[in-house]
Amino acid sequence: MFQLSVSGMFFARDRSARPPGRHFDPLAFGGRLLRLLPPNFAHRTAIRALKYGLAPTLKQDPSPVLATRVWDIDFANPVGLAAGFDKDAEALDGLLGLGFGFVEAGTVTPRPQDENPRPNLFRLEEDAAVINRLGFPSQGLDAFARRLARPRRAGVVGANVGINRDCTDPAEEFATGIARLAPLADYLVINVSSPNTSGLRDLQRGERMSEIIAHAREARDGAVGTGRRAPLIIKIAPDLDAAELDAVARAAIDGGVDGLCAGNTTITRPDSLHSIAARNAGGLSGPVLLRRSTEVLATLYRLTEGRLPLIGCGGIASGADAYAKIRAGASLIQFYTALIYGGPGLARTICADLARLLVDDGFAHVADAVGADHR
Ligand code: FNR
Repeated sequence: MFQLSVSGMFFARDRSARPPGRHFDPLAFGGRLLRLLPPNFAHRTAIRALKYGLAPTLKQDPSPVLATRVWDIDFANPVGLAAGFDKDAEALDGLLGLGFGFVEAGTVTPRPQDENPRPNLFRLEEDAAVINRLGFPSQGLDAFARRLARPRRAGVVGANVGINRDCTDPAEEFATGIARLAPLADYLVINVSSPNTSGLRDLQRGERMSEIIAHAREARDGAVGTGRRAPLIIKIAPDLDAAELDAVARAAIDGGVDGLCAGNTTITRPDSLHSIAARNAGGLSGPVLLRRSTEVLATLYRLTEGRLPLIGCGGIASGADAYAKIRAGASLIQFYTALIYGGPGLARTICADLARLLVDDGFAHVADAVGADHR
């Protein structure tokens, strides 16, 4: 049998935990090859491979421990792909085939728009992190909605909605996206937290947040479609202070949103960073974000008294990280950056490790562990 420890031979900084001498894994190898390409090109290549079925579908026995029901939606597992990878909903089947319980497509903007001038995407290899200032490149709502309307394989798909950079009426633009996608997506996310669209993050504050929520709810409730009301979630930044988090939680509860996602990339640059590329402007993601984003998640869980399902996102790269988010209050978790460094088999690995951790601690279902650290 052909055995090869590819990572040992070529990639000294490989971070995926692989026992020595394990069989050649074409998927892991493909992931490592992608990292040799310039980041924007690697991303486009990955989307194409997944879109045209070049990435194998991974067989995975669904674990009954991981099955969960949130917002009356059944998830085979709580491990999702965060927004920004499949911005135009091009590769949903391929991504669900990698073992994700759900995929969040977008951010989509109402009208098509280009990415910010390159370079706009940086790998921080030493930190297994990324900085991006892509600025919502999007083919626009029409193309996104057309793809979402196609039949697809089993699995949950969310739509993450944004605004164009020349937008003059954010509440109106968010409502346009919500109205259009409400009949097509399993859940909807209002993204007010990407750092690369001027003024966007200011919308997280006070009255503007409430206005956006009210318009979005009206748009969602009035949307013609299947009769079901897609849950509405707000995605926030990890950089909000205690008072701002309090205001967001209040606006979410009072405004009747269905959940919160904590959260997006950070504009801070923690001292622990090693990479020279950390000097670039943009949103930082990866393990360096884990602690702060989990603190924000735990704070939101306390502020909302566990009444709103939370999506935990930021820095997850292992089953243990995912478990920590769940114990801090996340009903569902997502990652993106670790996919770049861990490769396309990572969702499967995280699911297997998470299931084991839950069973070891005596939990029969992942839902029983949500918020366990607060009890
Ligand atoms: C993102 N993220 C993101 N989020 C979002 O809501 N809309 C988007 O369009 C994007 N785009 C995007 C591009 C790139 C290249 C990255 C790395 C990230 C943020 C992402 O969904 C997630 O919130 C953060 O990256 C934190 O999670 P990870 O990456 O640390 O697991």
